[in-house]
Amino acid sequence: MNNFVFHNPTKIIFGKGTISEIGKEIKNVAIKKVLLLYGGGSIKKNGVYDTVVESLKDNGIEWVEVSGVVPNPVLSKVHEGVEIAKEENVGAILAVGGGSVIDSGKAIAAGFYYDGDIWDAYIEKYTITKALPLFVVLTLSATGSEMNGNSVITNEKTKQKFAVRGAVYPTVSIIDPSAQFSLPKAQVVYGAVDIITHVLENYFDHTKDTEIQDRISESLVRTVMNNTEKILQNPTDYEARAQFAWCGTLALNGLTAAGKSGGDWASHRIEHSLSALYGIAHGAGLAIISPAWMKYVYKEYLEKFVRFAEKIFGIIEGNDEEKVLKGIESLKEWYKKIGAPVSLKDANIPKEDIEKIVENVCMLKLPLGNIKKLYKDDIREILKIAAD
Ligand code: NZQ
Ligand code: ZN
Repeated sequence: MNNFVFHNPTKIIFGKGTISEIGKEIKNVAIKKVLLLYGGGSIKKNGVYDTVVESLKDNGIEWVEVSGVVPNPVLSKVHEGVEIAKEENVGAILAVGGGSVIDSGKAIAAGFYYDGDIWDAYIEKYTITKALPLFVVLTLSATGSEMNGNSVITNEKTKQKFAVRGAVYPTVSIIDPSAQFSLPKAQVVYGAVDIITHVLENYFDHTKDTEIQDRISESLVRTVMNNTEKILQNPTDYEARAQFAWCGTLALNGLTAAGKSGGDWASHRIEHSLSALYGIAHGAGLAIISPAWMKYVYKEYLEKFVRFAEKIFGIIEGNDEEKVLKGIESLKEWYKKIGAPVSLKDANIPKEDIEKIVENVCMLKLPLGNIKKLYKDDIREILKIAAD
């Protein structure tokens, strides 16, 4: 295990009925006015908006609203948010929503203190050193953005979907699993795939002697699978929602990465191009790319892929390679079973587009990944495996 520093500054308030605490949390740090950021209106339908504004009023917090953050959030909305945050001189950002709203909130929080275009941070021309405090009310468990410093934004002009990492952590995040009862089933499915892939991106890492990280990871994947099925059967199963939500947070808050060497992340990088070009949900893209990536790279780290097959899917029969292939197939089958697309074809992306996708991925600095360093030809091969 490597030496590490684990410092996650986000305070989590978790549980039923906790959303009404948001005003008090903001007041506690003497903030008087916030920019309330949200998406396309789901929070108005499920009552979360009302609970939030009530809590702000009760605690004497003023707010100004920016709404309409779209899934795969875009830079122009971030610019709008930065402009309003500056004009109104708010003391914090309050993001109420899923990963897209939170990631936009992080960009606005950092953009508030930056004179240039905050996109500079995403293309590594600027390192974020200062940001407004960010408060979060989570309505969709998937990205882990509620307890990490990452933000992924799409520049709709250049079709680049790029990330900053470890830059802006929420000060407080409220996770009330019952706020997720209203999620469409597809979002639960995409969330499950995203959470599982976050765990696996860190799991497939060459660092030796990481028993605790590996066991936590295997447990997270199995718990997510188990509770996804419960939620799909009964969307108002609070305990299943709670297990799922906490797994989502733990999957990308630094816990499983501590002591390792950074994980792989190639599947994520390649997926972001699918979202950027076709607007598909991040989790849907991962269900297509991640099993194809596994098939392409498993020989580079056979013993870990054997462990994956054995511990997560209980595969004990066959030689090592057979076990691995069965393990990868089991993951893919499970994704299919819950309703995720598992090929480009399933997502109506024609094979003929592969070259266009490769070009988009190659706007990133290559090589991608760690298990196997991926260059342009490797990325093309993975996309071919993912084709149908
Ligand atoms: O916009 P509204 O109306 O709120 O509807 C949203 C949206 O349409 C809806 N929704 C959210 N909560 C709901 C709800 N509908 C009913 N009831 C609720 N309680 O769900 C839709 C999807 O929301 P979105 O925020 O886009 O989903 P998600 O949380 O999966 O976020 C995905 C984005 O996060 C990025 C992805 O690339 C993608 O852009 N990621 C961010 C990461 C991070 N910051 O660490 C890491 C991830 O790997 C990922 O890249
Ligand atoms: Zn992800």
